Amino acid sequence: MKIAVCVSGGGTNLQAIIDKINSGEIHDTEIGVVISNNANAYALERAKNAGIEAVCVSPKDFPTREDFNDAFLRKLNTYNVDLVVLAGFLVVIPKEMIRQYRNRIINIHPSLIPSFCGTGYYGLKVHEGVLSRGVKVTGATCHFVDEGTDTGPIILQKAVEVKEGDTPEILQRRVMEEAEWIIMPQAIDLIARGKVSVESGHVHIRE
Ligand code: GAR
Repeated sequence: MKIAVCVSGGGTNLQAIIDKINSGEIHDTEIGVVISNNANAYALERAKNAGIEAVCVSPKDFPTREDFNDAFLRKLNTYNVDLVVLAGFLVVIPKEMIRQYRNRIINIHPSLIPSFCGTGYYGLKVHEGVLSRGVKVTGATCHFVDEGTDTGPIILQKAVEVKEGDTPEILQRRVMEEAEWIIMPQAIDLIARGKVSVESGHVHIRE
C-alpha cells in the first residue's frame, strides 16, 4: 500500500509511522509523499532525513481557498496513493478530496471522540479543554475523515490517564506516547492488511 502523510507541524506522528514501517510493525506500506501546508514544519525535515519525498502546498501561495484546494488535490493525485494519513494536519480537507478518497483518508485526533473534538479543538487546545473540565481519562482517536469535523467512522481509540498537576504540554506528550504513536501506526497496518471495512458508518475490524 502506498500512502501520503499530510502534516503541519512537528511531525512526531509521522516519525512514529516511519519508525514502524522500518521496524516491520507496519506491513506492506510505503510513504509515497509527505505534504505540508507549512514550509517551516519540522515534519518536512523528518521526511527528508528518511529519504521520503516532501512537498509544501500552502494556502498562502494561492489567491483563493478554491485555488489552494484545487492545487492540493491535484498534487495529491499525482502520487496515486491508496491511503491519505492526516498526522497533525491542521487544514480543512476539501470536499472534493473527501469525495474522491471516500474511506481512504484517516486522521489522528488527541481526545476520545466525541469528547473535546470539532471546530476549535486542535493541538494543545484539546488538552486545555480536558484540564479545564477536569475529566480523569482522555486519549486519542484514529478515524476516517468525512465531511464533518472529527465526525467520521472511528477505527481505533486508546484511553490515557489525566494526572494531578498535568499541564496541557505534559498531557499532550503523554497522549502522544501512550496513544497516538500506537494507534495511528496500528490503523495503517490494519488497513494495509485489508482488515478494515466500513459499513453503515461503522468500522469493522477482522481478526
Ligand atoms: C497531534 O497531537 C495530533 O493528534 C494533533 O496535532 C498534533 C500534531 O503533532 N492533531 C489535531 O489536533 C487534529 N485536530 P505532530 O506534528 O508531532 O504529529
